[in-house]
Amino acid sequence: MNSLIDNYGRKHRDLRVSLTDRCSLRCTYCMPHDFSDWLKSDHLLDTGELMTVIRVAVSVGIEEIRLTGGEPLLRADIVDIVARITALENAPSVSLTTNGLRLVELAKPLVDAGLERINVSLDTLDRTRFTTLTHRDRIDDVFAGLRAAKEAGLSPIKINSVLMKDINDDEAPALLKWALEEGFSLRFIEQMPLDAGGVWNRDTMVTAGAILASLASDFDLVAVPGRGSSPAEEFFVNGTEATVGIIASVTQPFCGACDRLRLTSDGQLRSCLFSLEEMDLRKVIRNPELSQEQITQELSVRFFKAVAGKLPGHGINDPTFIQPRRPMSAIGG
Ligand code: 5AD
Ligand code: SF4
Repeated sequence: MNSLIDNYGRKHRDLRVSLTDRCSLRCTYCMPHDFSDWLKSDHLLDTGELMTVIRVAVSVGIEEIRLTGGEPLLRADIVDIVARITALENAPSVSLTTNGLRLVELAKPLVDAGLERINVSLDTLDRTRFTTLTHRDRIDDVFAGLRAAKEAGLSPIKINSVLMKDINDDEAPALLKWALEEGFSLRFIEQMPLDAGGVWNRDTMVTAGAILASLASDFDLVAVPGRGSSPAEEFFVNGTEATVGIIASVTQPFCGACDRLRLTSDGQLRSCLFSLEEMDLRKVIRNPELSQEQITQELSVRFFKAVAGKLPGHGINDPTFIQPRRPMSAIGG
């Protein structure tokens, strides 16, 4: 038995692994500028512990590992982690979501270690707006990082953008024009209620409908058929092969096709970004009374339990919705 099929028939192939909750930016929709509720460092899984979990994940059917955070490139052992995952028997594909700031030094070593794909978060092309949005004047480092990613041969390079009302919601066409010129694949993500500061507001969030309407005034968009389990609905732009994606997590949830599980940096397994429950894997790995074989066995049991308890949907639109206690930076995006 090595597939993680839940009670609704969804087969889980994708594990999102948060390597740290720390970050070099403070994106407004993610954490407040004075955020200080960091996880305790000795609670973070070290490289060996992480590899124990990933080996078990692969043995129960995980085929893709996406490394996230916080900012995964803040982990000193990031290149080693990628190399060790890609060297596994039945190695899963490895991708990474980053704010891009450290790509100048790391893009090439990561590719050499076997990294296949990358997503870089960038919400604006304007330096002042970037500084307002992230509380750090670092937009040039993102652009330099993107150049380094291209030079290292990463392809496709995906850009994730979150639009916020009265901050950057007028920038969708400019972002798409830039992405097309640069050869990046752009995806807009609806802002989700996952931030540490509680700034999310259903009435002011920029919806997929509004994003499409703003793009449609400058571009001809035709839906790409056959979405599979991708959270993004993709559109061909101006009759070319180039596409733009929209991830409408709030207004058009795609939970029915979800094939993801998430591991927090402190070793908790979650079946959904919005889960209120977690499976404690760290406790198992650090239990001195268990042999390596018993640890592997118990971790595998917990993967199946997490999947068995997965709810059909995230419930953001239910009146009873409760925002998870942990922010996105701790869960892993
Ligand atoms: N809503 C939507 N997207 C978010 N991200 C971080 N916080 C949120 C949120 N509250 C995005 C980041 C990054 C990806 C991991 O998730 O921009 O690209
Ligand atoms: Fe950092 Fe990503 Fe959160 Fe921005 S969204 S503060 S880059 S973890």
